[in-house]
Amino acid sequence: MTSVLKSIRSSDLLFSLVRKRRTTHKLGRERTLQKDTITGILRNALLVTPSSFNSQTTRMILMLDDDNRKLWDIAERCLEDVCGDNGVPPDTKDKLEDFRGANGTVLFYEDREAVSALRSNPKFTTFAQYFNSWSDQTNAMHKYLVWSALCTEGLGATLQHYNPLIDQKVADEWQINRDWELLGQLVFGKPAGPIKEKSFLPMENRLIIHDEKQEKSG
Ligand SMILES: Cc1cc2nc3c(=O)[nH]c(=O)nc-3n(C[C@H](O)[C@H](O)[C@H](O)COP(=O)(O)O)c2cc1C
Repeated sequence: MTSVLKSIRSSDLLFSLVRKRRTTHKLGRERTLQKDTITGILRNALLVTPSSFNSQTTRMILMLDDDNRKLWDIAERCLEDVCGDNGVPPDTKDKLEDFRGANGTVLFYEDREAVSALRSNPKFTTFAQYFNSWSDQTNAMHKYLVWSALCTEGLGATLQHYNPLIDQKVADEWQINRDWELLGQLVFGKPAGPIKEKSFLPMENRLIIHDEKQEKSG
């Protein structure tokens, strides 16, 4: 057993887990993962994800059950406001119904006050122009890790972007810090539908390797 485990590369093990992360739009209500496990995943993601100068600017809010339903009700009302007389398109209404019926949603924020403090810190003048982008990048890393971790536990998830449309009403409803900017919503639940076939662009257009030593000897 030990020798079999030894022959498996750690990176293969990691990829076998992260391959479980896919987009699933149809999500069931049945809770298959304990709240403690979900919150454990969020805590761990906040602890292990890197950020520029270890600035830790990402914030998360977990919406479960009734709060999750309320969140997607709010999103529908916001859409109704912008769609006016035309009404919300039926396929969007169906999607929102799926999200309402999911286990929950993780809201991903960036603390823009913290980012702005970095931008104006005299220690970091040379990097000032990059902090906004780095803040978005660390936020994306958190999303990817949480999404992957939830899927390794057998959940399905879909990353949505109803921001900035819903920002104000969501902030009012849950008294969310006004310095936090909403950057995405990860809806999760029991997978209840097919996962789309995925196509891939040719690797040779996406990965270039230079190995001067090998080129010379070859
Ligand atoms: C930065 C980013 C933004 C995305 N935004 C949305 C979105 O707003 N709505 C949505 O349904 N899917 C969204 N997705 C999901 C992608 O469509 C999906 O990840 C992609 O098609 C690959 O499929 P997979 O997740 O199953 O690997 C987003 C993904 C990423 C990485």
